[in-house]
Amino acid sequence: MAVPCEDGVVEQYLKHVTEVGDRRAITATEDICSTSGVKLLAAGYQVNSSLLDKLLRHKLLKPIDHSCVVENAIDSAYLVSRARELLNEQKEFAALIEQETTGDFLHACFGHMQLPTAIRNKLTVLAEQAPRLIDHSLWCTMGSIFLGQKLDMNMVEERHLASAALLHDIGQLHIDHRILDPKERLDEALRRQVQTHPVIGGSIIDALDVYDKAVSRAVLEHHERADGSGYPGGLRGDQMSLAGRILSFIEFSLGIRQSAGARHLAIVIRTYAHQFDPVITRVFWEHFNVAEPLEKYPFDTRDIPALYARLSDILEGWEAVQEHASAQAWTLAERDFRAIRRAFSSVGLAPDLIEDLEASEPDSEAHLEACSVLREGLRQAREATDILSRAAQDDPDMRKDTVVLEWLENTTQALNAR
Ligand SMILES: [Fe+2]
Ligand SMILES: [Fe+2]
Repeated sequence: MAVPCEDGVVEQYLKHVTEVGDRRAITATEDICSTSGVKLLAAGYQVNSSLLDKLLRHKLLKPIDHSCVVENAIDSAYLVSRARELLNEQKEFAALIEQETTGDFLHACFGHMQLPTAIRNKLTVLAEQAPRLIDHSLWCTMGSIFLGQKLDMNMVEERHLASAALLHDIGQLHIDHRILDPKERLDEALRRQVQTHPVIGGSIIDALDVYDKAVSRAVLEHHERADGSGYPGGLRGDQMSLAGRILSFIEFSLGIRQSAGARHLAIVIRTYAHQFDPVITRVFWEHFNVAEPLEKYPFDTRDIPALYARLSDILEGWEAVQEHASAQAWTLAERDFRAIRRAFSSVGLAPDLIEDLEASEPDSEAHLEACSVLREGLRQAREATDILSRAAQDDPDMRKDTVVLEWLENTTQALNAR
């Protein structure tokens, strides 16, 4: 996986830090120097946007987080109190934790966490620049520890899992800042950058020499899928750590639940079950009630015929060109396309069903199921197409293959059309 160059990774983060420095005090705790010995800022002075150009012109001797301190930086007391606020907003989770866990659950999540200054700075910058991402990290920690306890993890494993869940997305501060804007529509280049954040996050954590290797490993694995269709390594379930499998499941489930509701999540997990660890999925079903009234379903089921036509065209096009692409690239994307096909057949998605659905009232259980499967299918098709686009760039044979390139271009356009 191509990670943005080291300078780019540092540059993006410096922009965030100096922007935050305009809003709250960030003080240099030691002289900030370049690798060539130039003193860029003396100890005791403030880091803010007036310093950015100077910082960008030089290569820093140490990562910026090691040479400064953010005023009132996030600590474990903040994490506990913000997590409590989040639980108060989601009474069903609060009740679940109350009934199903023993001892002080929030203390188990955040009380033992190692938080060196560099990490407290980074979490504070994350909270300032992307408040929804720090809340997402808190939710992932609570969800992961809940499942970790149900899966009988020991105390040490649980602590590593908690750190990994809290820190899993810090790599996002080191890639293009547009990624943190939820309204930003990601083009192919940005999506490719997003796929590097587990690698960047894992290496930042390793470089600190504070956390166990299990923490960076789980961070690296948090977008992998049990059937090998995830990124960055395309690892299968048995190649992933238990912490990585729990975190990947929780981060996917919470993301879908927050963006599209429990009803959609329930259908997606059921239809794409092969992407997740069966034991984790079973434990999840046992404890999380994902039934929701119909009126909370977030999509318009009248879109079904159009969604079906779009996705069918893409799948047919894939079948027509599949022998062209290099075998290796194709195996990677093939898993995603096969998963979509399998989901189609598991809910009987075929022209007959679409006609039946069109003719009936648009809010039956069958409508919800078809609509959720199609929406998730389009999302997965987008991921598969990204994999092929990346492969096409690296593979000289594919680059010459006009049939594949033309299909890729048309498919990318079809997937990006609203
Ligand atoms: Fe995440
Ligand atoms: Fe992530």
